[in-house]
Amino acid sequence: MKSSLFAAALGALAAACASAAPSPADPFDFRQAALVYPRMNDGVAQGQASLVGNGQCRNSNGSSLSGYQPALYTESVRPQIHFSPTVNFMNDPNGLVYSNGTWHLFYQYNPTQNVAGNQHWGHAVSTDLYHWKNLPIAIAPEKEGEGIFSGNAVIDFENTTGFFNGSTPKDQRIVAMYTLNTDTSQTQHLAYSSDGIHFTKYPGAVISRNQTQFRDPKAFWDEKSSRWIVALALSQEFGIVFYSSPNMKDWTEVSRFQSYGILGYQYECPDLFQVPVEGGPDDGKMMYVLAISINPGALIGGSFVQYWVGDWDGSKFTPRDNAVRTMDFSKDFYAFSSWNNSPGKKAYAIAWANNWQYSQQVPTSPFRSIQSLPRELTLKYYRPTPQFGDLILNNRPVNLSAIHGKTLYKSENGNSARNQTVNLSGQGAFDITATFKLPANANITYNTIASFEIFAGDGKQSVKTGIQMGEPAVAYIDRRGAGQSFAAQNPFFTDKTSGIIRYAANYTTASSENADQYVLGPLPPSAYLDSTDQAQYIKLQAVVDRSVIEVFVNDGELAGTSVFYFDNDQIPSKVTVSVGDNKLQLVDLEVRALNSIWSKCKE
Ligand SMILES: *[C@@H]1O[C@H](CO)[C@@H](O)[C@H](O)[C@H]1NC(C)=O
Ligand SMILES: *[C@@H]1O[C@H](CO)[C@@H](O)[C@H](O)[C@H]1NC(C)=O
Ligand SMILES: *[C@@H]1O[C@H](CO)[C@@H](O)[C@H](O)[C@H]1NC(C)=O
Ligand SMILES: *[C@@H]1O[C@H](CO)[C@@H](O)[C@H](O)[C@H]1NC(C)=O
Ligand SMILES: *[C@@H]1O[C@H](CO)[C@@H](O)[C@H](O)[C@H]1NC(C)=O
Ligand SMILES: *[C@@H]1O[C@H](CO)[C@@H](O)[C@H](O)[C@H]1NC(C)=O
Ligand SMILES: *[C@@H]1O[C@H](CO)[C@@H](O)[C@H](O)[C@H]1NC(C)=O
Ligand SMILES: *[C@@H]1O[C@H](CO)[C@@H](O)[C@H](O)[C@H]1NC(C)=O
Ligand SMILES: *[C@@H]1O[C@H](CO)[C@@H](O)[C@H](O)[C@H]1NC(C)=O
Ligand SMILES: *[C@@H]1O[C@H](CO)[C@@H](O)[C@H](O)[C@H]1NC(C)=O
Repeated sequence: MKSSLFAAALGALAAACASAAPSPADPFDFRQAALVYPRMNDGVAQGQASLVGNGQCRNSNGSSLSGYQPALYTESVRPQIHFSPTVNFMNDPNGLVYSNGTWHLFYQYNPTQNVAGNQHWGHAVSTDLYHWKNLPIAIAPEKEGEGIFSGNAVIDFENTTGFFNGSTPKDQRIVAMYTLNTDTSQTQHLAYSSDGIHFTKYPGAVISRNQTQFRDPKAFWDEKSSRWIVALALSQEFGIVFYSSPNMKDWTEVSRFQSYGILGYQYECPDLFQVPVEGGPDDGKMMYVLAISINPGALIGGSFVQYWVGDWDGSKFTPRDNAVRTMDFSKDFYAFSSWNNSPGKKAYAIAWANNWQYSQQVPTSPFRSIQSLPRELTLKYYRPTPQFGDLILNNRPVNLSAIHGKTLYKSENGNSARNQTVNLSGQGAFDITATFKLPANANITYNTIASFEIFAGDGKQSVKTGIQMGEPAVAYIDRRGAGQSFAAQNPFFTDKTSGIIRYAANYTTASSENADQYVLGPLPPSAYLDSTDQAQYIKLQAVVDRSVIEVFVNDGELAGTSVFYFDNDQIPSKVTVSVGDNKLQLVDLEVRALNSIWSKCKE
């Protein structure tokens, strides 16, 4: 289906940004604030406010939650730490923008059915990227047959649009850009808000091309050329087209990024954003990444995201090389989008954790689909092979300490060399992290596997993840045993996925002959990695949340996201951590319960 889209908007005037927005070193150092946004009311009529209590517990369409039985957000398959709408169908994240302490998450939403269609922009806000508060629908279509498709949002600090007067603080001037979909066209439109809740549509299209496959604007203030830039997908021409504008209303085409990577059937959701380099002498330096979502046509079926690291000169994106890279090896990570205006030179992003191959059939009710964990992105230097250097997008969950609950098990320093089983008691969401050691010169077998098996309450159904050692080592997710009634029936619910684990790479010192830290491609023979006589350590983290598992290897060097559906309303109840042929050692294990982000909605 021609669905999704999204886009976001990056920075804004750098100077204004630095002076107006607080930029704490770590914006997640604080717990959930009682008030998300001082100028923001709940969007609920005064008289109704007492009925709904905490605004977090309002319906995604803005109505009161009272009367729902069972209470929403308590359903057995409902993830407890991932964002989902109260009822009905959600897809792409949209309008991701940070404004004065508040992270906005808009999303593609059908408020009337539990399948895609009738697209609106739903809305939620957070102060820590985990605890979300539902707000009323932000942007709705006006006519039967029209849809408000994906797009993104920027902060118009300097009022370039002319939409704001002096009563709206500079860092709260939110302008959304979205695609209006009709039977005969896809055109690009603006809507703006002074209170972060209510949006006013700017009349007429700001970009149109007599095109039915032209969508997902991602706008940002470009510091290099001092103007707005927007990336849009010419979906079925496999083109990303860039436009520039002084005011977001008058746009001029400036360049194209055409026919790169895996084409599939459609390009969607382009996102050009800046990411800090992590480690080495260029630590903290920002570089550009262009991400494109493809649907269908992923090599493992359906929807996936590919990206390029490259240079942006103010008009044109030039990738550093022609290789396709992906940031998630599994099947349920699509419509990736980054937050605009993130504080502290950091990059944060989220994706829709599902796949169009089955997203409208998955057995969840009364809602369908969740967003992934929020991810913190960096660019890190790795070796995909011992002889090759590469700069990859590292992708790990935003600091989970905001939702950490009880520690269910913890061991360190080799005290848990044997297999361990830990009961998972809590609300169905857990963070399981282990470090495994392969001693030097161990002779590995096919079964030199370290794994987590997460069981449902019946002790039979399970979802697994693990690492098989070798050259290279690979990580996998296996959801085949997680409930036959959906998995076995659906021809596209690919049950096993895997990805290659890269080798750690040391940064060369500036004085060495190979001073370019970010060399791409073959390394000189003197730099070949020799792992003989060295023990290898691998860290595996699984965040499991009732019906989704997200796996991270070596703190985000590799990530995989899979939804799964246990039969009979079961939730995760036990994890067994094991090593296949006892060549690997389990040196560290920590299992923590994660606290539901929706607990305030329970009576
Ligand atoms: C996460 O946040 C906690 C609490 O602020 C802090 O102690 C911890 O170091 C942070 N962890 C990471 C990996 O940043
Ligand atoms: C909001 O959604 C609920 C549940 O689908 C529905 O009963 C209610 O009528 C909707 N309210 C509005 C204002 O659309
Ligand atoms: C931004 O948020 C802070 C803390 O909530 C508040 O004190 C301040 O007034 C806000 N700034 C503006 C410009 O509204
Ligand atoms: C924003 O621009 C509009 C149109 O030019 C103008 O009327 C308004 O006063 C401006 N607002 C501010 C805060 O400068
Ligand atoms: C400024 O803008 C706000 C929000 O759009 C509006 O409520 C207010 O009336 C405007 N003030 C003036 C002086 O135009
Ligand atoms: C728009 O495209 C349609 C279909 O290709 C074509 O029939 C029509 O003439 C085009 N309109 C304009 C104004 O170019
Ligand atoms: C784990 O749970 C099972 C079943 O409820 C129970 O029999 C067992 O004693 C528990 N184990 C631990 C270590 O608490
Ligand atoms: C690995 O295999 C080699 C060749 O068979 C043998 O010499 C060596 O002792 C083995 N290493 C270990 C740790 O078992
Ligand atoms: C990286 O450097 C450290 C310290 O110099 C060394 O111990 C380690 O073996 C190196 N790792 C690799 C993969 O070269
Ligand atoms: C650990 O579990 C694996 C697989 O379940 C099994 O093959 C192995 O023998 C177990 N090791 C120990 C020490 O119990």
